[in-house]
Amino acid sequence: METPIILETCSLNKRFGGVTAAENINFKVRVGELRCMIGPNGAGKSTLFSMLCGIQGADSGQIFIAGREVTRMQAFRRVKLGVGLTFQTNRAFHELSVRENLAIPRAPVKSAGSEAGAARFAYALEVFGLDPKDETRAAELSHNQLQWLEIAMVLAAHPILVLLDEPTAGLASDETSRTAAVLKHLNSTGLTIVVVEHDMAFVKEVAQTVTVLHQGQIFAEGTVAEITSSEQVKSIYLGRA
Ligand SMILES: Nc1ncnc2c1ncn2[C@@H]1O[C@H](COP(=O)(O)OP(=O)(O)OP(=O)(O)O)[C@@H](O)[C@H]1O
Ligand SMILES: [Mg+2]
Repeated sequence: METPIILETCSLNKRFGGVTAAENINFKVRVGELRCMIGPNGAGKSTLFSMLCGIQGADSGQIFIAGREVTRMQAFRRVKLGVGLTFQTNRAFHELSVRENLAIPRAPVKSAGSEAGAARFAYALEVFGLDPKDETRAAELSHNQLQWLEIAMVLAAHPILVLLDEPTAGLASDETSRTAAVLKHLNSTGLTIVVVEHDMAFVKEVAQTVTVLHQGQIFAEGTVAEITSSEQVKSIYLGRA
């Protein structure tokens, strides 16, 4: 039996004036995948994520999460279905403490996440060196601690599907590897993860399947080896496609 699909889009489209941010996106992720999404700047990666979690509406097309159509479902309801998202720009509350930031997602959410969710959250706190009783204001954290706080905030809601938009942006290479190791471990416990990343060392480290976006479209999909050796994929990064 094939592994069930946890996330699927059908002919998803989104325009901003004259800019096509998403065009006929048919994207499918199965339960337990750790998928990487790459693509040049402006390819539409963040726009796709924001439509998946309900922050921005699609112009047309459909989105399904765990078999339910969520195309017009509000973002907080998708969180309850078990979708967790981190943003490309930091969204932790800088004036609040580490403790308060980590408590926010847990208060209103009773997500679809299983028992495993609590263990995943505890694991992330441990490996990222975050203390849920820490009264330090987030504003005082270093950049890597803030990035890791955001991942922990997402895990606090016990999601079943996690979307991470450039979680290693600005991290040093040892911090990037630590992030990769954590995501791989979380994935090995059954958590489905989709991660946008520019750092190819990270992608080679974590990805099973890579999806390439270009000009709002899915340009290629394949194994890391297939994608990194593709002349067509190289050409879009060099601006020749
Ligand atoms: N709110 C918006 N209003 C107008 N145009 C937008 C808006 N959001 C995104 N765009 C445009 O849509 C296209 C896709 O942007 P998006 O941020 O999704 O790309 P990206 O792949 O995440 O890029 P990056 O790698 O730089 O993060 C770009 O041309 C961008 O300028
Ligand atoms: Mg982006």
